[in-house]
Amino acid sequence: MKVLVTRRLPGGWIERLAEEVDVEMWQGEIPPPKSWILERIHDKDGILVTLTEKVDKEVIDAGKKLRVISTYSVGFDHIDVAYAKSKGIIVTNTPEVLTDATADLIFGLLISVARRIVEGDKLIRSGLWDKPWHPEFMLGKEVHHSTLGILGMGRIGRAILKRAKGFDMKVIYYSRSKHDVDATFVDLDTLLKESDFLVVTVDLNRETYHMLNYERLRLMKRTAFLINASRGPVVNEVDLIRILEEGKIAGAALDVFEREPLERDNPLTKFPNVVLTPHLGSATRETRERMAEVAVKNLLLALKGERPIYEVK
Ligand code: DGY
Repeated sequence: MKVLVTRRLPGGWIERLAEEVDVEMWQGEIPPPKSWILERIHDKDGILVTLTEKVDKEVIDAGKKLRVISTYSVGFDHIDVAYAKSKGIIVTNTPEVLTDATADLIFGLLISVARRIVEGDKLIRSGLWDKPWHPEFMLGKEVHHSTLGILGMGRIGRAILKRAKGFDMKVIYYSRSKHDVDATFVDLDTLLKESDFLVVTVDLNRETYHMLNYERLRLMKRTAFLINASRGPVVNEVDLIRILEEGKIAGAALDVFEREPLERDNPLTKFPNVVLTPHLGSATRETRERMAEVAVKNLLLALKGERPIYEVK
């Protein structure tokens, strides 16, 4: 069997894959151009991709023998899953193994923006910490005992909830359905109006694209913060910039953007009350190796006609 792999992955898992099947792999640091995939996929039984490669109708149609698409990510918005399924192609992903790492990063972002950690660091490095301790210097927002709003209550939402309990936070959430969790289910408007910290954990799909637009964001408290580490396009970035310019929320912490990498001169980079990280949710050595293990095992199992560990339904 032959497979195409679009990126090198940590942990020696591609070498193990190569013991069982013929592997053709892109070696570059940046993602392969689509033409590289199109030229090679015609005789491949499977493809292992990351979130930077679009697997659309054109790619799927070019994969004449394609039976499995394994993505090295929990998100699958880069894959036309419905079309793949209509052609009997199995799509797999890597949830669960990255839940805790992502929830940790989200909590880090939340605390950083609330307690002005990045701003303080920049102040010291730029030589501007020139006065001794002062009772009203760089005051932030308290995290403990505040209200955390979680948009979406999947695995990552639950992991954030667990962490929030340790901070004695009141937790409210909105998702498509109620869950058996120790948090209060509210409607979307209430979530926006009552949260001190609003954390986005929903998938990107047709329903959630630009779900947080100007009309919705302006329902948030002026003292509230938005934290997004799911997918950039869930938030309308232009609207968020306007909300920040108008001072309608206290700040934001963002790990994901409408276009990645974020352009150097993007207005988001100008706000001191915005913390930015370059899509690091799952970026720990341990998690990225576990993701590689799952992505490779998913691919091999599905190619052998067995049930993969995680299939996108
Ligand atoms: C994912 O898996 O979808 C994350 O965005 C990157 O790990």
